[in-house]
Amino acid sequence: MPLNGDPRPIGVFDSGIGGLTTVRELFARLPRESVVYFGDTARLPYGNKSKETVTRFSLEIASFLARQHVKCIVVACNTASSHALDTLRDRYDIPVIGVIEPAAKAAVAASPRGRIGVVGTLATVGSNAYADAIARLAPRAVVQQRACPLFVPLVEEGWLDHKVTRLVAEEYLAELKTADLDSLILGCTHYPLLAGLLHEAMGASVRLVDSGAEAALATGELLSARGLLAPASAGEPRHHFFLSDEPRRRSFARIAESFLGRALPKVSVVDQTDLPWFERSHASEPSIPSGETP
Ligand code: DGL
Repeated sequence: MPLNGDPRPIGVFDSGIGGLTTVRELFARLPRESVVYFGDTARLPYGNKSKETVTRFSLEIASFLARQHVKCIVVACNTASSHALDTLRDRYDIPVIGVIEPAAKAAVAASPRGRIGVVGTLATVGSNAYADAIARLAPRAVVQQRACPLFVPLVEEGWLDHKVTRLVAEEYLAELKTADLDSLILGCTHYPLLAGLLHEAMGASVRLVDSGAEAALATGELLSARGLLAPASAGEPRHHFFLSDEPRRRSFARIAESFLGRALPKVSVVDQTDLPWFERSHASEPSIPSGETP
């Protein structure tokens, strides 16, 4: 265990800029730490993609972050945490922290009667990752889940306190509202921005659990336990933000800043000059036997 701490940055990734809600929490809780962020803006959303695709994208990003010499990887994306965490942990020696376990733990602690709701993308809810993690911690807990795919575009539109968002929330949350919940896990990077509206919709007695904030807390605990926190001698933290695409630069920066809660530092867009799939030879791959329709 290093005795003097570890000045290397924390790697964080997400399907896009939603993961900046987790970076915001890391900045608040671990102000000495440098962060390297990767947002896969060229390929988002992940929330409606298959496990195989999300895992492949996650492995590519982890490989990029490992080359930036990060000391750990925080998978801020709930969808990637649901689908790819085990594969990432198998593949890398550095700690990989997802959002699922920390949020499940916080929800169990906040739910004396074990009545827990989960909202997230179609992929996250479909994977059952939260329900499984809660069952491991509290086998008698009752978990009710609901996919809320329209929340992501509504947040990106900036409609955080808008009548349309309220209407959509009423529709999505109708069953959860009658489920007599102790807590509701916000299982998507974008949902903390809707916390006010969701709090109102669910009622004051339901505790909202922010998965990004819990992951940031877990990251601090893990780094501290392993002697990996940045030492005071490391000086001012240095942050780097990488994206795979930067669409509509100005409005994009505005949205990014609403996630991060402060001005976005300079971002770098990674170049994607590798041979894409449509220029590679696929001759060696099995083809579909004649007579079978794909
Ligand atoms: N970042 C994703 C998540 O937390 C939401 C956006 C997407 O579908 O890519 O699941």
